[in-house]
Amino acid sequence: MTTPLRLGIAGLGTVGTGVVRIVQARADLLAARAGRPVEITAVSARDRSRDRGVDLSGYAWEADPVALAARDDVDVVVELVGGEAGPAKDTVEAAIARGKDVVTANKAMLALYGQELAEAAERKDLALRFEAAVAGGIPCVKALTEGLAGNRIERVMGVMNGTCNYILTRMEDAGLPYDTVFAEAKALGYLEADPQLDVGGIDAGHKLALLASIAYGTRVDFDGVLLEGIERVSVADIRHAADMGFKVKLLGVAQMNEDGLEARMSPCLVPATSPLGQLDGATNMVVLEGDAVGQIVMRGAGAGEGPTASAVLSDIMEIARGTRLSTFGQPAASLRAVARAQGGSPAPYYVRMDLEDRPGALAKIAAALGESGISIDRMRQYDHVETTARVLIVTHRTARVDLDRAISAMQRTGVLVGDPVALRIEEIPS
Ligand code: HSE
Repeated sequence: MTTPLRLGIAGLGTVGTGVVRIVQARADLLAARAGRPVEITAVSARDRSRDRGVDLSGYAWEADPVALAARDDVDVVVELVGGEAGPAKDTVEAAIARGKDVVTANKAMLALYGQELAEAAERKDLALRFEAAVAGGIPCVKALTEGLAGNRIERVMGVMNGTCNYILTRMEDAGLPYDTVFAEAKALGYLEADPQLDVGGIDAGHKLALLASIAYGTRVDFDGVLLEGIERVSVADIRHAADMGFKVKLLGVAQMNEDGLEARMSPCLVPATSPLGQLDGATNMVVLEGDAVGQIVMRGAGAGEGPTASAVLSDIMEIARGTRLSTFGQPAASLRAVARAQGGSPAPYYVRMDLEDRPGALAKIAAALGESGISIDRMRQYDHVETTARVLIVTHRTARVDLDRAISAMQRTGVLVGDPVALRIEEIPS
């Protein structure tokens, strides 16, 4: 009989319970694939009395996850406690200190402490793996680390917060304002305990920071991710964007520019005909572009018991098979501290504004753009509402700094009613 791999599961919420369920239901399959049994020996959670719908009677119970991490009958600590520090980080540190491999779904902890934790694990030749931390069931960490290891990565893109994609899709389909759909999402239980993690782009920003580290061989730099949430996206902009052939998405993009790493998580327009443009509801999509492979598109569930547990199992199986991969695709100590790109790469922009309906108003707007060197690609004017006219402009590619200068100049013309809205258009092959 080969030696079993013994798991300690810290955290028995949705994902932890899902992991238990798969290990119990698929024991033969996992053993056949790993060449050794995969077993659970101990579990830990706050509430022992709760009925989770799985039989936990065969496992040792630890009230304290740190104690679970220290057990001699645990080879791999599966950290599903959550939270950026506190018990989750204590558990991972205890596991590493006791020479145990770690599997975690904790994006916030890794986005903030991934470098130090990975270095600590790798100093002891231990695994610290996190497939479930990014885009739930989509195996994008493994795709980047293994499948695309021979590529120079040119761009990483992702819709990686299902809640935001649900909100934006529902706003478009039902024509409902953000606040109403936010309340609906809350009632449906879609939002994190702190909704800002979702709608403020923080959760998705954590995920982008982790993927960028693997893609570009750089230290995780969450603070370097330019974050903008979806709270200010209006139904009007979603509808106007659709008129111009675009969808509005909370899109993460990471790319290495000449002056450093550009990483941003913000509402962007994408072509409606592109895979990202066709992603509706609470689904995730990760798009990876490599110099040899071209574009890879992965779509799937970004949350939920089965998909997230599936990703956790992929890391467990990697360890069971004896594969040893660095946390971020190369030794953590060799990751570069990278410069942050200044200003961001040029792009076309969608600009929506309301103008006073009088002679020469549009000419002043066009002049403000022209004086900043910005060329107009397309333009549309809508019906007048009393004395104002709504105008949409799609620019040719421009630097954001030039657009901001043009918008300031527009504001000085006296023909604008209210502030213009500008959204980046991410250029994506359809
Ligand atoms: N709250 C996230 C989402 C899932 O809505 O996609 C966990 O990261």
